[in-house]
Amino acid sequence: MNIQDRINKLKNEIEQHNVNYYVNDNPQISDFDYDCLLTKLEQLEKNNPDLVTSDSPTQRVGAPPIDKFKSITHRIPLLSLANAMNEDELIQFNNQICKTLGNDINLEYICEPKIDGVAVELVYENGYFSYGSTRGNGLVGEDITHNLKTIKSIPLKLISNYKIPTLLEVRGEVFINHKDFIDMNKLREQNGEQVFANPRNCAAGSLRQLDSSITYSRPLRIFCYAPGVVEGITLKSQEQFLNCLPKWGLPVSPIIEKCTTIEQLLSYYKKIEHERNNLKYDIDGIVIKVNSYQYQEKLGERSKSPRWAIAGKLKPKQG
Ligand code: IVH
Repeated sequence: MNIQDRINKLKNEIEQHNVNYYVNDNPQISDFDYDCLLTKLEQLEKNNPDLVTSDSPTQRVGAPPIDKFKSITHRIPLLSLANAMNEDELIQFNNQICKTLGNDINLEYICEPKIDGVAVELVYENGYFSYGSTRGNGLVGEDITHNLKTIKSIPLKLISNYKIPTLLEVRGEVFINHKDFIDMNKLREQNGEQVFANPRNCAAGSLRQLDSSITYSRPLRIFCYAPGVVEGITLKSQEQFLNCLPKWGLPVSPIIEKCTTIEQLLSYYKKIEHERNNLKYDIDGIVIKVNSYQYQEKLGERSKSPRWAIAGKLKPKQG
């Protein structure tokens, strides 16, 4: 095998292990063996610098610090969500949707956990991670590409088990698992560094670093949950979109369900409230979305939030 082929094979292997770990939650090799693959690749690239490409896993770290954040105008604003504070308000939401769309349609909802992290947008051009930004004020965010590239659950190149869009904007939430957070804080305490108050604050601070080597040292992850502009493929529903994401190597929460009745919606709400303490990460509610993009369009938006979705809030966590 020539050097180019060996490099390509190693790159694919490493990215596949990232997917096994972060997307499928099913690691196939030890951290040590993973690091060995990365070291082998680094060595080959060091001896053949002309063969280094921007999508190489070695390029996640080592970018020089930036001076200041650039602004990025979102092609589609990142809206927020109206809140339902209890079951009655979820029932009202469903009634309103049925009233607008009529009772003679097949209404489906996608129910997702509302991850308590930091909203970001990733932009893939022809399958390559091109840039990414914070939500900012919803219209304009900050360019945090250098920091997002350090997050191993964000693929630098989409894997092509499925047709790759020419343009894919995908929104998601960057967060930290409880266990990773506790381990990190322990280490910081041992080193005499200040500990972080909670995973969300740490994730937010980590994404706002000018020096991406700091971000690289933080155990950030992502779950993706919404499309922005998508070109080159047609998406008809949230279900279809969510099914595509893991095929491209993008992580999605495993506790998403499709519901067709208000009873099912309410039982998802109760179930998540119940299971909340067993989850590996913080959530602050559920998000209910009308599944069909055609119906979403029909329902439209208010100035700050869509009419086709709602956040079902959970009581703030005790202790
Ligand atoms: S959908 C128009 N889905 O909640 C729909 N948002 O107030 C916009 N969030 O800042 C968002 N988990 O960061 C959506 N499964 C999920 C989410 C989610 C967390 C956050 C998001 C946004 C806020 C909306």
